[in-house]
Amino acid sequence: MKAILLGTMATVAALSMTADRTPTYAEDIAPLVNERCADCHRPSGFAPFSLLGYEDVAKRTELIRRVTINRQMPPTDGWSSFGEVAVHSKLSDAELRMLQDWIRAGTPEGPKDKIPPAPQFEDDWRLGPPDQVVRLERPTAVRLAGNPYWRAYFVSLPDGLLERGLVAFDVKPLSPKAVRHVLIAQDPNAASTLMGFGFSTVGTLNVPGKHLIGTWAPGYRPLRLPPGSKLLLENSPLLVQIQYAPTGKYESGQVEIALYFAKGDEKRVASWSTLGKDDFTIQPEQSIVLEDTLVFGEDVEVVAVHAEARLFADQVNLITKIPGESDRTLLQIYAWKLDWVGAYNFAQPPKLPKGTTLTARIAYDNGRHAPANEEREKPGLVTSGPTLMDEIFKVHVLSVRAQ
Ligand code: HEC
Repeated sequence: MKAILLGTMATVAALSMTADRTPTYAEDIAPLVNERCADCHRPSGFAPFSLLGYEDVAKRTELIRRVTINRQMPPTDGWSSFGEVAVHSKLSDAELRMLQDWIRAGTPEGPKDKIPPAPQFEDDWRLGPPDQVVRLERPTAVRLAGNPYWRAYFVSLPDGLLERGLVAFDVKPLSPKAVRHVLIAQDPNAASTLMGFGFSTVGTLNVPGKHLIGTWAPGYRPLRLPPGSKLLLENSPLLVQIQYAPTGKYESGQVEIALYFAKGDEKRVASWSTLGKDDFTIQPEQSIVLEDTLVFGEDVEVVAVHAEARLFADQVNLITKIPGESDRTLLQIYAWKLDWVGAYNFAQPPKLPKGTTLTARIAYDNGRHAPANEEREKPGLVTSGPTLMDEIFKVHVLSVRAQ
């Protein structure tokens, strides 16, 4: 008998489907890949190659085996006990086993007439027609080679829109393969006049949490506030920080930002709160966990979380303690990587009653074998600070008074 790890109902269904026969591309793998991989792995998608037909999948089985077994793909690594944050969840044990069985069996294609049609992807905005689409002014092309890097731009908004407040936004890069993360904030100091059209950053703008608007990343949900609520905008341009990833080809650095404004009856004002610490050191060979808490003074809905950490961080955990209940995970990022930072926007904002304690913990590893120390002879002292070899402990939480 097969060892069965019981998961969700979907897991059980998938298992019973393939328990007595060898999985085939037509009946088992195509539906899985279409649903879990193709959104990114398609010609105009975010991933470097397409996985839209038998040939595309069968010629990459060795790679696919490796990246699914070590849970590298699907890559979106945020999890919450309060429901969906990322669009692409991890493969279940049963799905993973089916994929492995299929590869071991020599990737049989199965009956051609059972191959499901390739999924259609809408390139329209996911939240419907925006009120306004803004673009970067004179963005520079993405570098051809090297590590991911960041640039920031100022984007001014047309008059008359700021006062309305924002209810949602979404982002579309012109070169989807070259853009990994977008952070949008406000620039109350109007530094834009000094900075020209764009400038390099080290991935952190150091804007106080209260000036944040939100973040976007491929594979995650766009930010949308709950009905009847809005984010207030200050009278300043938007500050847009983009993480670019060189692809080896010419890619435009342009992104389009769709903005959705309040219509007038939004009475609740959402705001970002920040947990974290500024003054800390991590000794060589040391692993530490930093922690900070806040207590909500009213019933809230949590809309989004944006964590800031750098190369030595490896796990981010947000735990809620609702009075009289046991602890629950609001968000867990199990393998923090600076070039895979998600946009953790809840599909259904969790409701937390007044008096709930929120604890944010980030674990940092400065050991000899930590990925951040790979290219060093031995670990050095790490201090809190803004550069790429410093560390940050900040977790921003967007919430609004519950109805
Ligand atoms: C959220 C978008 C996204 C989803 C969903 C996704 N991938 Fe990927 N995939 C990527 C990106 C981007 C890369 C390029 C590597 C990187 O940037 O980390 C990649 C790379 C890969 C690679 C090459 C890895 C290497 O080392 O060269 C394989 C194989 C792969 N994905 C398979 C899959 C499979 C199978 C699925 C579905 C089970 C999947 N991916 C789902 C975005 C995605």
